[in-house]
Amino acid sequence: MQNDLYGISRWGENLIGILPNGNICLHDPLDENSEGVDLPAIIHSLRRRGINTPVLLRVSNFLEYKIRSINESFQNAIKENEYQGRYLGVFPIKVNQQAHVVERVVKYGSEYDFGLEVGSKAELLLALSQNLSPKSLIICNGFKDSEFVRLSLLSTKLGLRSILVLESVRELDLIIRVSKELGISPELGVRVKLTNSVSGKWAATSGDRSSFGLTVDQVVGIIERLKSEEMLDCLILQHSHLGSQVPNVIEIRQFVQEASRLFIEIQRMGANLEFLDLGGGLGVDYTGEKTSSMNSMNYSLAEYCTNVVETVKFEMEEAQQKHPCIVTESGRACVAQSSILLFSVLESTEFDSVEEITGEEGDHPALESLIGISENLCGENLLEVLNDATYYRGELRSFFRRGQISLPELARGEKSFQFILGKIRKILSEQEVVNEELLAKIKGMADIYHCNFSLFQSLPDVWAIDQLHPIVPLSRLHEKPDRNAILCDITCDSDGRIDRFVLEDGISNCLPVHSIKEDVPYYLGAFFVGAYQETLGDLHNLFGDTNVVTIRLGKNGSFELLDEVEGDTIFEVLSYVEYEPKRLLETFKAHAEKAVEQNRMSLDELKELTSTYKDSLRGYTYYESD
Ligand SMILES: Cc1ncc(COP(=O)(O)O)c(C=O)c1O
Repeated sequence: MQNDLYGISRWGENLIGILPNGNICLHDPLDENSEGVDLPAIIHSLRRRGINTPVLLRVSNFLEYKIRSINESFQNAIKENEYQGRYLGVFPIKVNQQAHVVERVVKYGSEYDFGLEVGSKAELLLALSQNLSPKSLIICNGFKDSEFVRLSLLSTKLGLRSILVLESVRELDLIIRVSKELGISPELGVRVKLTNSVSGKWAATSGDRSSFGLTVDQVVGIIERLKSEEMLDCLILQHSHLGSQVPNVIEIRQFVQEASRLFIEIQRMGANLEFLDLGGGLGVDYTGEKTSSMNSMNYSLAEYCTNVVETVKFEMEEAQQKHPCIVTESGRACVAQSSILLFSVLESTEFDSVEEITGEEGDHPALESLIGISENLCGENLLEVLNDATYYRGELRSFFRRGQISLPELARGEKSFQFILGKIRKILSEQEVVNEELLAKIKGMADIYHCNFSLFQSLPDVWAIDQLHPIVPLSRLHEKPDRNAILCDITCDSDGRIDRFVLEDGISNCLPVHSIKEDVPYYLGAFFVGAYQETLGDLHNLFGDTNVVTIRLGKNGSFELLDEVEGDTIFEVLSYVEYEPKRLLETFKAHAEKAVEQNRMSLDELKELTSTYKDSLRGYTYYESD
């Protein structure tokens, strides 16, 4: 590998690599002999088709690989442990509801009878229209009104297996009433709240404090009620969900053990449960650290499956009960790795300079001292010089605030500081042993790379829950990066920045990058963004959905474009926020006519202005190069 500063060999699995030309490439994990496909070449080819960045790239090979891996790992664990039940996975639609994703999940999962999990009526409608295999499940979680229940019950007539999971005691009354009206016996599940809580991001909402699920006394009440209605045989599934991105395998074991114990006791009360549904939680190792930290996980997929199967088997055999069919609702692990956000750097703000400032007659003594500092700079006194320079720059700033120095003097002071910083950085980059305090200070003065995307639209979890996605320059990886930067998006919001990055040697508060060359695009990729990000994203500053393309990696470094969804136009985003763009145009034209009437504008100018307005309405919401 050329330059693994970004830890690609750790988090990129068998999906992402680096080509000898220093470009990032995508490997087809389903075909070991295929060549890596050059990612900047993909961007170039999309641009030639008129599809510009920012673009969300979905790689169908990655999605298929993940669906296959999850199902086959469970099948292996079942075989190795001589488990008598089967595994049936379902994909929770909320994790990525986009049609091209769900349809492919269903397609790739059909040979494993992979089903869908829904949490709302809209998701149920979507699930009912998919080409699911007859043995697959539709697990209905979430609050259900009578229409929801009706749809689910009637859909069983289509040969679909739609299981209504009781989220509350009230729901049971409703289901009993509707099923009697329709004369259709329901297939029921019960969602139980377990006491085991989880570490990681969802610690506060897991265990006893989870918002969903029935307490054990409510579960007992439901069983009694079903018995009294002679409907206990309708209860076929027990559901529980530990939380998403569970980083620690021990917690998974404890959770599966508790879920199994409850299952056994519910059976002992006379139920005939068929399915043990363990919800989601299977993690994604975003950092590649293989630890139990929040954005990582200390287990592999194979270990997860073995732990689940072994634990269920052990508990069932202790209680001399039949092995149930194990269901999981892994969303993140299915789709996260299959999407990459590709965006360009528009410009950079650098905090150092190569331009040396010389002293002038009458300079303020603080400015004179600052300018003089660089003369003594050497490898041994870098930290001392930085501290002195910072002190004098602070002095100059406060003199300016008090009116004691002029703006040009302050500007020369700032430039002088930047020159010193540049020299320190240069010497530092040549040193083998570096002072950690100095390094941290220098990193804290990283450049700002302004990038053409919206954090709030495309990476909302980075802002909301400190999610880490690996971010990497897509080219020049055979060149040593000469700058360090944080990334800012193009929203006018100071929160629209990324200042935590995954690197080979841990998490860093800046990203090593290359100096931008004029007229040469510099692209970055944010990897593993396929779970939750697309739907949670919002319209901050009216930046809409990005362009989305799905590709299929082929042999010999080729790829095929499968689908393209154009990003929102300005016309569309304005309509989302209650404007009628046509009326906006009319009003705007009326303003322009008035300006012509009052001789403030010529007819040629009116023509140009209105045509620019119309073009913009039809255009992309992101920065467009000329
Ligand atoms: C009930 C349920 N099932 C499955 C999932 C998916 O979890 P994950 O993405 O961790 O697999 C969730 C999400 O939190 C959920 O609430």
